Amino acid sequence: MKYALLSTNPATKATDCLVVGVWTKGKLTAQASDLDKAIDGAISRVVATGDISGKVGDALLLHPTAGKAKRVLVVGCGDEGALDARAYRKIVSGAAKAILKANAKTATFTLAELAIKDREAAWAVTMLVQECENCCYQYDSTKSKKKPSYMLTTVNISTPKGAHSSTMKEAMKAGNAIGIGMSTAKELGNLPGNVCTPTYLGETATKLAAKYKSISTKVLSEKQMQRLGMGSLLSVSAGSKEEAKLIVMQYKGSAKAGSKPFVLVGKGITFDTGGISLKPGGAMDEMKFDMCGAASVIGTMNAVAELGLKINVVAVVAAAENMPSSTATKPGDVVTSMSGQTIEILNTDAEGRLVLCDALTYVERFKPRTVIDVATLTGAAVATFGDQTTALLSTHQPLADELLGISQDTLDFAWQLPLWDEYQPLLESNFADIANIGGPRAGTITAACFLSRFTKKYNWAHLDIAGTAWMSGAQKGATGRPVPLLVEYLRRQKA
Ligand code: BES
Ligand code: MN
Ligand code: ZN
Repeated sequence: MKYALLSTNPATKATDCLVVGVWTKGKLTAQASDLDKAIDGAISRVVATGDISGKVGDALLLHPTAGKAKRVLVVGCGDEGALDARAYRKIVSGAAKAILKANAKTATFTLAELAIKDREAAWAVTMLVQECENCCYQYDSTKSKKKPSYMLTTVNISTPKGAHSSTMKEAMKAGNAIGIGMSTAKELGNLPGNVCTPTYLGETATKLAAKYKSISTKVLSEKQMQRLGMGSLLSVSAGSKEEAKLIVMQYKGSAKAGSKPFVLVGKGITFDTGGISLKPGGAMDEMKFDMCGAASVIGTMNAVAELGLKINVVAVVAAAENMPSSTATKPGDVVTSMSGQTIEILNTDAEGRLVLCDALTYVERFKPRTVIDVATLTGAAVATFGDQTTALLSTHQPLADELLGISQDTLDFAWQLPLWDEYQPLLESNFADIANIGGPRAGTITAACFLSRFTKKYNWAHLDIAGTAWMSGAQKGATGRPVPLLVEYLRRQKA
């Protein structure tokens, strides 16, 4: 998709679909009012007849006989003066869907000109482009009949008068990159476990390195991991014929010598049966999404390279398949992690932390500025936050605060849970330094407590995306979260 900023009056531009807003109580936005004059009052007529109410979520497609636009999409924007970020996102994604459905080839948006209570114009442009890109994503990789691709190729965006054009351009680029990163993440998440294996994740990361000179990728084999002493990670893939992989992607954007990197770590369980602690059968198919942490860090790297950020970033994916078999790890087995700490595996279904802990030790070598791991780690996070909010836990409050703020800014919501020492005793073991489960209560917290034993050498935050990484039910599929949060976090850093 091509995005362009429009400097001329949108009403004078030939386009397949021009999007304008109306407020409640029959009030036209300034852009709708301008256009109304050019199309013989077609908008004021549908407002007067009540065909469109102006409520958020309301939309109507017009085919005016006058003017330059083939179609006009009128969208409800709520009460004038009350438009907020959440409503704006809803409005632009609704508009994008309607445009795609109408098979328009080109579209022009005037919505980024609207004043949003709690945001600036640059934010509006980013969100608009991000949502357009997002709506264009469709999954058909494993369907025999490919979906007809949408016709839309160009989106023009008008911006408020006086808006700084280089700021607007940057905002547009950011929205595009975030959208691309989310699509990468969604595609990896949606691919089935028999296609998206640890090897496949490694190949995807290698392909990104071929596409972007700024990225270099290396993929460590089980043998190499053995030499590093990653007994915990390897205990997870022990029951599978699929080889585990440690995928290391390095992005170099900083011109400063020795600029320390920001590090992302992703859980890449390409299928989680639970292992010998086998999961029940219901909805087990959804455990193909257990690599969405990995998908989101790979998607974020894609976005970072697309943006050419002037910082260094390292992404490490701990990829494995968790299967039961005669070679699988058994409850009660004790393994030695790369850190030297021994772990009693009381439940083989608590495998995410077992692959992550070795990856978290591995990344010490990069002397990271910060480390953020992303994982579909606990069912308890789903029970606590549902599909709206990512659980955030951290040993470094300034990092937690920064991420919480950005999650509000991007609407890619996260909320903090305590990671207090009082919870640590739940992980005590009679037979090893630590147990891999902390009992039935406070599951998200004890999982993070486990990880915290391996993150002492740097500033660390943990994102449990078990609830937010995918949708169940009719809209089953990966969401591409938390790519917006991660990309915005990195965008705000300096070398
Ligand atoms: N991948 C799951 C977590 C999960 C469960 C994500 C449901 C999304 C929906 C993870 O590997 C797991 O099985 N966690 C266990 C841990 C328990 C055994 C301590 C869980 O949360 O039940
Ligand atoms: Mn599990
Ligand atoms: Zn899992």
